[in-house]
Amino acid sequence: MDRPAPTPQQLLTIAVEVARDAAATAYRMRAEGVSVAATKSTATDVVTAADRAVERQVIAALRELRPGDAVLGEEYGAGAAGATGPGAVRWIVDPIDGTVNYLYGLPHFAVSLAAEVDGTVVAGVVRNASTGDEWTATAGGGAWRDGQRLRGSTETDLGQALVATGFGYDPRRRAHQARVVAELITQVRDIRRLGAAAIDLCYAAEGRVDAYFEKGLAAWDLAAGGLVASEAGLRVDGLRGVPAGPDMVVAAPAALFEPLHARLADLDASGGP
Ligand code: IPD
Ligand code: CA
Repeated sequence: MDRPAPTPQQLLTIAVEVARDAAATAYRMRAEGVSVAATKSTATDVVTAADRAVERQVIAALRELRPGDAVLGEEYGAGAAGATGPGAVRWIVDPIDGTVNYLYGLPHFAVSLAAEVDGTVVAGVVRNASTGDEWTATAGGGAWRDGQRLRGSTETDLGQALVATGFGYDPRRRAHQARVVAELITQVRDIRRLGAAAIDLCYAAEGRVDAYFEKGLAAWDLAAGGLVASEAGLRVDGLRGVPAGPDMVVAAPAALFEPLHARLADLDASGGP
C-alpha cells in the first residue's frame, strides 16, 4: 500500500458520514412505499429495492472517499477486490438490517457499516434509520451514543435478565431456535425478538437489554454492532471457546456471560441446522 493505514477514528468519521446518508435514503424510500423485490434463502427472506439502492449508494460513496478499499455487502457480496497487504481496509455493510421491520413499517431498522484493517474490525456505526439513534465504536476508543459512553447492563442475575435474540429464515433452523428459547424463557426475565441483530447488539451495549444471543449471523449483521458491544465492555463470543460467528454470537456483561453461556451450551444452541 502506498499510503499509511488510516486510524480507526478516521475510518469512523467516514463510516458515520456514509451511514447517515444511507439511512436518509432508506427512510425516504420507506416513506415512498416498499414492496418485495425478490426473495433470497427462503420465501420469507426478502430483499426490497431499498436494500439494493442503499447498498449501491454506500459502495459508491466509499469508492469516492476510499478508492481501492474492499467492500463486502449483504446484497452485492464482495464486489471488486480491494488493495491487499499491510493496512488493507475492508468495509462491511448491511444496508438495511431489519428488512422485515422495514417492509412492515416497524420503526426498527438500521444501516450497519464497519471497517476492518488487516481483517480486524476497528470502527463501526449502526444507525436506526427510522429513529436516528446512532451507535459508534472504535477499537480501543469505547462505544458511544449521543456523546454518552456505553457500558452495558449492571445486572448480575440471569434470572432477572432481559435477553434479546433472533431467528434465521430457514424453518428447520427456526424450529431448533424455538426449542432453545422455549427452555431459556423459563430461566430469564423475558425474551425480546426485535428483528434487527445490529440494533440488538447496540441495545446490549447500552443496557436496553441485558444480553443478546443468536445463531446464524452473517458478517454484516455482526461487524459494527459486535464492536459496539465489545467496546462497551461486553464479552462477545461463541460457545465453548469458538469465536463469535455464524454458529453463535453471545454478547453479555461478564457476570451474565458465564451463566448464559452455560445454559446455551446445555441447550445445544449452536447446534441444529
Ligand atoms: C436479520 C435481522 C434479524 C436476525 C436475522 C438477520 P436482515 O437481518 O438482523 O433480527 O434475527 O438473523 O438475518 O435480513 O433484516 O438484514
Ligand atoms: Ca439486511
